[in-house]
Order: sequence, then structure tokens, then C-alpha cells
Amino acid sequence: MLVTLKEILQDAQKGGYAVGAFNVNNMEIVQAIMEAAEEQRSPVILQASQGGLKYAGVDYIAAMARLAGEKASVPVAVHLDHGTDFEQIMLCIRNGFTSVMIDGSQYPLDENIEITKKVVEVSHAVGMSVEGELGKIGGVEDDVAVDAKDATMTDPKEAALFAKETGVDAFAIAIGTAHGVYKGEPKLDFERLKAIRDAVDTPLVLHGASGVSDDAIKKAVELGICKINIDTQIRQAFTRGVHSVVENQPGEYDPRKILGPAREAMKEIVSAKMQLFGCAGKA
Ligand code: G3H
Ligand code: ZN
Repeated sequence: MLVTLKEILQDAQKGGYAVGAFNVNNMEIVQAIMEAAEEQRSPVILQASQGGLKYAGVDYIAAMARLAGEKASVPVAVHLDHGTDFEQIMLCIRNGFTSVMIDGSQYPLDENIEITKKVVEVSHAVGMSVEGELGKIGGVEDDVAVDAKDATMTDPKEAALFAKETGVDAFAIAIGTAHGVYKGEPKLDFERLKAIRDAVDTPLVLHGASGVSDDAIKKAVELGICKINIDTQIRQAFTRGVHSVVENQPGEYDPRKILGPAREAMKEIVSAKMQLFGCAGKA
């Protein structure tokens, strides 16, 4: 069933688990995630970045993800990831997304609050949820690129003000993770996470979670993270699946025989994440 992000995250916060938000760009990715969600009996968030929407078309992504949600026996939210453009956000809402992210993290606090507030006002008026972000997460996620030297962690006092002023339903924070492939082991600032949790009631979101150790993820969930974003590891699984066919059966030319194993590889990683995040068995 299709639900809003708010409903999914309220249950997660009450239950002390996190729900996986997985980036989708094509049909095989949507199907892999949904097969995992059904098998694991897990609520799930299908999200698309602006880059994903540019690649596949907002109408195609919305149609596929909404169909997946309507057919599913588990709760599914259809979410815009890292929206930076007001018109694009409105387009997603018109196309049937159930929630949007406005990423104003590149702006000073007051401007970020102002931009985010505007999106919250409009989205809440039509029953959609909103994720905001404060602090700059390093690395590259499609259209959003932040140099490691420009990455800044979320300040707990500013976080309290941001949550109160904007009224967001989900709050993305920067505590040491980054988008893309990590060079070394990422170090998460758990003290900061605790301080933010004490200052803010809004469900918290961890971006850049691909490649973060299982122990660190478990600790982050214990300390109040309710939504965890995974994109890079899905891309890697997809590519691994394609490579295995191309290398082992070089004469294969049927796309279904190449993409089928990629879909299986993605399903496996998504299932493992659902078990790790604690959302498996919660639907
Ligand atoms: O918004 C999407 C996620 O933050 C992706 O993070 O590159 O670690 O998979 P990732
Ligand atoms: Zn992200």
C-alpha cells in the first residue's frame, strides 16, 4: 500500500528501528527492492534523486514506483531524494510522489529554514511529507556534490531551531557519513547524534550509509536514526550482476539474461540491509 513518509517514520520511531530508503532509476531496481520488501515483510521507501528523474523521466519513475506501492502488501512511500529545485518538487507532487526532500543544506541556516518552510507549507497542504537537511554531507549524489573540505556536521542547537521553525517530518543530519564510495572507514560522531536526538523529536535520517559498517549502523539506529539511505551499494550490486554475465557468457545478447542476475544481486543486498536496519518483519 502507498503511504506517506511520515506514517512510515512515526512507526519506525515508536518501534526503535530504521526503514531503508533505496534509490531507484529503472524497473529492475524497483522490482528488486519490492521483492526484498515483500519477502522480508518490511516497510520501504522508494526514492529518486533529481539525476534519476532526469535519466528515466519523472512520469516513468512515478508510474513505476506508485504501481509498486499500490500492488504491495507492505507500506511503501515514494520519495524525492535531495530536491533542490522548487518547481521540480512541485512536479513530483503532481506526479504522485508521497513525500519530497528539500535539500537546502548548501545555504546559510536562515535561508535553509526559509526555503524548507516554503516547501513544508505547500506539501503539507496537499498531505505530503517533507524531509529537510541541515549540515553538509560530503561526496557526490547525482546533482548534489560537496567537497570533503566543505562538509560540515550538524550543530545540535541549530538542529533544534531548524526542526521547530520548518516543521519537517524527517530530518537529514551530517554526522560523518558521505555519499559515494568511501576511501577509508567512515567515523560517525555518535556523541553528536545523541545531542541532536536530545534536542529534536523529528525522525532523523542517515544519508551516505553505503559502506558504513554493520556495527556503526546498529548503533546509529539505537541512537534514534529512523531512515537510512542506500544508493551506491545498489549500483554496485547491479554492476556486479551485469559483469558476471558479460564475463562468463560473452556471447549473451538478451538484455533479460543480463539484467535478471543484476536484479537478483540487488535484491540480496536490499534484503540484508532490511535485516540490519531492523525493519524486516515490521510490515
Ligand atoms: O541520498 C542518497 C543516499 O544518501 C546515498 O548514499 O551513496 O552512501 O549510497 P550512498
Ligand atoms: Zn543523500
